[in-house]
Amino acid sequence: MNIKIFNGPNLNLLGKRNKNIYGKETLNEIQNWVEIKIENKHLIEWFQSNHEGKIIDEMHRSIDSCEGIIINPGAFTHYSYAIRDAIESVDIPTVEVHLSNINKREEFRKKSVIKDVCIGQITGLGKSGYLDAVRMLAAYKNKKNN
Ligand code: DQA
Repeated sequence: MNIKIFNGPNLNLLGKRNKNIYGKETLNEIQNWVEIKIENKHLIEWFQSNHEGKIIDEMHRSIDSCEGIIINPGAFTHYSYAIRDAIESVDIPTVEVHLSNINKREEFRKKSVIKDVCIGQITGLGKSGYLDAVRMLAAYKNKKNN
């Protein structure tokens, strides 16, 4: 499958940022780990931006090339109706991922405005969440084709 993995604001600082919550690994290290685990079974493109509009533009560019989207929108999760609408508009199966468990942190993190336009939400599994999301997209595609 052709999959694009989006990471939103401040996730470029993984490895430095709130290590007790997000772990010691950098985004690059997480990317390499995921790539090894999927054993070339899928073609994955990674995109990180701190800017809402750049994430949306990149999502629009995926329309014809991408069969699945995985997104950790960072704090945009909790209030970006624009990203929510972009996911709905491109109409590509999308899985929402969070490294930390957003349901067990501050009150404002419990709400995801993108959850209802995604086929699934994975929260609190650290880097494994990205891998599980790849598997979820593959299972979803298989089910649709059978
Ligand atoms: C996060 C959780 C968000 O609430 C936060 O703003 C992030 C990271 C996570 O991966 O756990 O930036 O999406």
